[in-house]
Amino acid sequence: MSAAPPRPDENRGSCVVDETGRAPAAAGDDAPDPLDGDERLPEYFGTAWPQVERFHRMLVEEGELRGLIGPREVGRLWERHLLNSAAVVPYLPSTGVIVDVGSGAGLPGVVVAAMRPEAEVVLVEPMERRTTWLEDVVAATGLGNVTVRRARAQELDGALEADAVTARAVAALDKLFRWTVPLVRTGGTVVALKGSRARDELAAAGSVVRKLRLVETAVHEARTLPGLDPTYVVTAVRGGSGDVR
Ligand SMILES: C[S@@+](CC[C@H](N)C(=O)[O-])C[C@H]1O[C@@H](n2cnc3c(N)ncnc32)[C@H](O)[C@@H]1O
Repeated sequence: MSAAPPRPDENRGSCVVDETGRAPAAAGDDAPDPLDGDERLPEYFGTAWPQVERFHRMLVEEGELRGLIGPREVGRLWERHLLNSAAVVPYLPSTGVIVDVGSGAGLPGVVVAAMRPEAEVVLVEPMERRTTWLEDVVAATGLGNVTVRRARAQELDGALEADAVTARAVAALDKLFRWTVPLVRTGGTVVALKGSRARDELAAAGSVVRKLRLVETAVHEARTLPGLDPTYVVTAVRGGSGDVR
């Protein structure tokens, strides 16, 4: 799998990209999703299935229309987006506060909220069109553990103290750490979904890791359903207090 470093893209029309940060493909591919109707999905998502299925249906029916996903993404929502998002869940606490930075269409935040019902999940997204969508998703799915905050991560320094922060396709790790570490309590974890070059990206972020006193940094090969490509999850724990700006 090739992987370009994810980048901030507040101005792009659609938002859903794959875990590598690649842009949505060109229009014209309306192939059905090979995982639609796969009986392993309800089993995999368990009690989160009704909310995840509803979220999937909203993305299929409205995602492209509302400029949240590229046309070709509709045919690969399960593997590239919903299961890919679910891959972070094993690295997250069951309770406490989880902040998803740059939620966009709700990935991974909405999936996390469905699969971590005892946690309080905050979706942080600066673009109004996207926060309106996120509010609509919360209302339609009935997720009671989600708050949507319209803001850039950097504006919430001091306003949030998360046990974990998630992010997918928002920024390269050095920048992402600078944005997210101030939102995490000491001992809390930054959990980033990345492409196959996650190790190189983590190595490139070495000086930021040291400056922000991140410890226990690791890259995990994360799998969901058998037969699907793995994704890569970077975890980093906020160590002692210090200058995190
Ligand atoms: C490429 S989209 C990815 C969205 C979603 N995480 C996904 O994987 O589909 C990047 C998102 O990050 C948001 N974003 C950009 N800069 C941000 C910042 N400083 N703080 C929070 N979100 C930001 C953008 O508005 C956009 O919705």
